[in-house]
Amino acid sequence: MSAPSARPGTRPCRLADLPAVLAITNAVILGHHANFHTEPRQLAELEAEWQADHGAYPWLVALGPGGEVLGFAKAGAYKPRRAYLWTAEVTVYLGAASRGQGLGTRLYAELLAELAARGFHLALAGIALPNEASEALHRRLGFHLAGVLPEVGHKHGRWHDVAQYALRLGEAHDSPGPPG
Ligand SMILES: CC(C)(COP(=O)(O)OP(=O)(O)OC[C@H]1O[C@@H](n2cnc3c(N)ncnc32)[C@H](O)[C@@H]1OP(=O)(O)O)[C@@H](O)C(=O)NCCC(=O)NCCS
Repeated sequence: MSAPSARPGTRPCRLADLPAVLAITNAVILGHHANFHTEPRQLAELEAEWQADHGAYPWLVALGPGGEVLGFAKAGAYKPRRAYLWTAEVTVYLGAASRGQGLGTRLYAELLAELAARGFHLALAGIALPNEASEALHRRLGFHLAGVLPEVGHKHGRWHDVAQYALRLGEAHDSPGPPG
């Protein structure tokens, strides 16, 4: 595994960060359709996900001046089948007070750079619509709209399309080594 890129205010997510990551996640789950869970997630569940994923995929947190977690960005497997090994599903969440100031762009750019450095080929993000900020963020970082799944989720009393945004992270190789 390569060393994570160092940038002030951004570092790999640690076990001790997970309660803050959970709080940010659950606020979105309860208040927004951006996350298709409908009930708050549990800490043990997030810890298990982190234990399983954070070696193979980058998980980053953005920190405030006092070391508090302002947001996180993480990658994980798109699907468990072997041929998808070079594709990572990515996401980024900020606490409400930290949005709209360029932090999501900076944090996500770090995550994508780390994925590219590790040899991943494609980053894929599913955006439940409408989500103007998230679509703008993905377009800004070079993602293109690969397709829209119509009315694939129902939350808060309405149907939501999910836009699939894709970003090629590196050159296509015929015989890529395993990412890592
Ligand atoms: C989506 C999110 C990560 C964006 O991060 P951010 O720090 O707020 O975004 P930035 O300030 O870096 O701005 C990124 C782009 O979004 C645009 N933007 C930001 N907030 C916006 C808003 N409320 N409405 C419309 N556009 C917005 C910015 O203008 C910028 O676009 P530009 O580059 O074309 O000027 C953040 O809003 C968030 O955490 N939202 C809740 C969780 C979520 O939806 N996550 C994405 C799941 S797919």
